[in-house]
Amino acid sequence: MYNDLIQKAKTVLDTNFQPGGFTIPSKGLYPFQWKWDAGFIAIGFAHYDVVKAKKEIETLLNAQWKNGFIPHIVFHTESDTYFPGPDFHQSHLSKESNPDYPSTGMVQPPVLGFVLEHMLNVVEDKKAMLQFISTQIDKVFWNHEYFYKERDVTNEGLVYIYHNWESGTDNSPIWDDIWATMNPPQYTFKRKDTSHVDASQRPSNREYDHYLYLIDIAKKYNYEDAKIAEHSPFLVLDPLFNAMLIKSNESLINLYKKLGGHADKIKQLETWQKQSVASFNRKLFNEELGAFVHYDLKSDQQIPFVCSSSFAALYAPIVDADRTEILVNTLQHKFGDESLYLCASFDPSSERYDPKRYWRGPVWINMNWILYLGLKRAGKTALAARIKADTLTLLKRYGFYEYFDARKKVPDDAFGGYGGDNFSWSAALFLDFVNEK
Ligand code: SER
Repeated sequence: MYNDLIQKAKTVLDTNFQPGGFTIPSKGLYPFQWKWDAGFIAIGFAHYDVVKAKKEIETLLNAQWKNGFIPHIVFHTESDTYFPGPDFHQSHLSKESNPDYPSTGMVQPPVLGFVLEHMLNVVEDKKAMLQFISTQIDKVFWNHEYFYKERDVTNEGLVYIYHNWESGTDNSPIWDDIWATMNPPQYTFKRKDTSHVDASQRPSNREYDHYLYLIDIAKKYNYEDAKIAEHSPFLVLDPLFNAMLIKSNESLINLYKKLGGHADKIKQLETWQKQSVASFNRKLFNEELGAFVHYDLKSDQQIPFVCSSSFAALYAPIVDADRTEILVNTLQHKFGDESLYLCASFDPSSERYDPKRYWRGPVWINMNWILYLGLKRAGKTALAARIKADTLTLLKRYGFYEYFDARKKVPDDAFGGYGGDNFSWSAALFLDFVNEK
């Protein structure tokens, strides 16, 4: 049924795979290796080209810093199609950075633990994949150790992000109230993204001033975590980021058990896990909204908005049966209108919702994949089936775009597939959806 599209998805991935052993998310728009993209991409390759799947992970982990940090972008090659590049980020300012790999000085959601486990689940030769995992898993463990040591300022088992790009959900309306507390200078710079994609689908120039200013603050303190935590006006506990960490903890435990030995690491992971899960439920659940929300550590309060990140916890061992009912109810009630595809990235009933602008409303395939697996885990098979069907419909209707209009009936002047075309993780996760056993 999907034979043509499967072939196209493979062509997208094979074309975006670079001689340096990594895959660009989309030609022109994103010409380097991104961390969470690399994870989802490796899952796609695992279905038909295990060599490339392993290479993707290995290349990313080669760029790990001395303190276990894994950067959000690794600038393997030079490119003049992207801003801000290595000259702006200047990772060399950090004494912890990896001198062989120019990168950013920020992170992205910790997906690698569950990516390794998912790769093991889909490949035929489990023995060879487990052998590969044994060569990489300690680097992922060490990355978690970095998060718990350096990013858990309140000692609660929840890790902060200091930049909206660390969340992965770049211009979400969640950040609007934080931007309102800042007054960054107006930077003189040339946007490159808006030469690839219509500006109405991207963050505004003024938003970019905030993004650049946060990086300048981190650079001023040579990317030292303790100083960033003290001085950055942006310090947030993100329910997507922390759910990914908890899910990856669970996967690392499973994988270490399969490998045998490693009792100390398993014990450490279990200790982290216990505290993280308890704090996640205590600090990030909003009773009134019936969902998990972000927490602003600077103002010491929750940010009371519902977005697709609010439901990522379903994919991890976080949510008990009662809260699962509440969460699924909220998902259905706020995002499940039959005129919309699941799942808009931001509350469609909010005045901040924008159906075209990046993370302010459009549907993202990686979030649908996380929510699909989360709903299945929670035993919500009908809603899970709907989210899978909607995902496949969108990809069939528009192609492998970066993000999609949630409205089933788009206005005449809109196409519905937005951002970069031939987008790697849309293709990769499509392969995972259609090859599901
Ligand atoms: N996604 C970001 C961008 O738009 C960076 O991570 O460039």
